[in-house]
Amino acid sequence: MTKITVVGAGFVGMSCAQRLAEQEVAEEIVLIDVVEGKPQGLALDINQAGAIEGYQALLIGTNDAADTAGSDLVIMTAGLPRKPGMDRSDLLEVNGKIVEGVAAYVAADSPEARVVVVSNPLDTMVYLMAEKLGFPKSQVVGMAGVLDSARMASFIAESMGGGVKDVRCMVLGGHGDSMVPIPDFSTLNGVSLPAIMGEDEISAINDRTRNGGAEIVNLLKTGSAFYAPSAAAVAMAKAITRGEERLLPCSAWLEGQYGLDGIYMGVPVVLGRNGVERIVELELDEAGQAKLEASASAIRGDIATLEGLGLL
Ligand code: 2OP
Repeated sequence: MTKITVVGAGFVGMSCAQRLAEQEVAEEIVLIDVVEGKPQGLALDINQAGAIEGYQALLIGTNDAADTAGSDLVIMTAGLPRKPGMDRSDLLEVNGKIVEGVAAYVAADSPEARVVVVSNPLDTMVYLMAEKLGFPKSQVVGMAGVLDSARMASFIAESMGGGVKDVRCMVLGGHGDSMVPIPDFSTLNGVSLPAIMGEDEISAINDRTRNGGAEIVNLLKTGSAFYAPSAAAVAMAKAITRGEERLLPCSAWLEGQYGLDGIYMGVPVVLGRNGVERIVELELDEAGQAKLEASASAIRGDIATLEGLGLL
């Protein structure tokens, strides 16, 4: 039996719970939030929809951390979203404190859990979560590259006037303004992007990808994206709980790969039952490598801020 806990019943969390239930990813799904009644109400609603959609969900809504005990996988979505004009790093302090609180009960009650972090600023929140949990670093992974790559794929399909299903993209680096779309490792059914698209077109897609989250924040005005983020988190949850060993860009602990050490950042990993089974090192050109290093510096800046705030 598989037990998955979704922490946070905001839009990303509730959408994760819905996808997990509809796809029957786990026999037991717990949705926990600090707001009384909200996770309980959402759980009832999602369970009742199963009678129409034809899925069997055992979704429990709770405010009590004890109900999460023994989870095989935890998806951490709790935290404030950005408002228009905000950078993801503006959320460091408020979301850092939330991560700290959640890490305490996950470490105590679900010591075997794999943990997928979604809260922003992503790469720093995964770092903080891993530090506070004290779990092997491969058990803790961040969701961002799957989302950013999906955005890139959608923009490519739109630009080419084709279907999105054949598009596979690779976006590496931190989940922020310094993320690094890699057109050379992005393909339309195996055909590499530079072979079918001009430089200007690729550059416009890269820019729109980097700005993909903010584009939605600016349109929504309150809140941020949740359909694609939850789809990405659930894809990772399935890869882990079903041992799919999928090659996905995820924020993973680096120990010398890509010349970087001691941070979590987006790189291609094989995701399976143990979490990050291994990191795949692509041969990047000089410009790509320099962009990854710049992205790593931005993450190190956020980690230093967390240290200054006394959270690390
Ligand atoms: C996004 O890019 C929420 O960071 C997330 O939409």
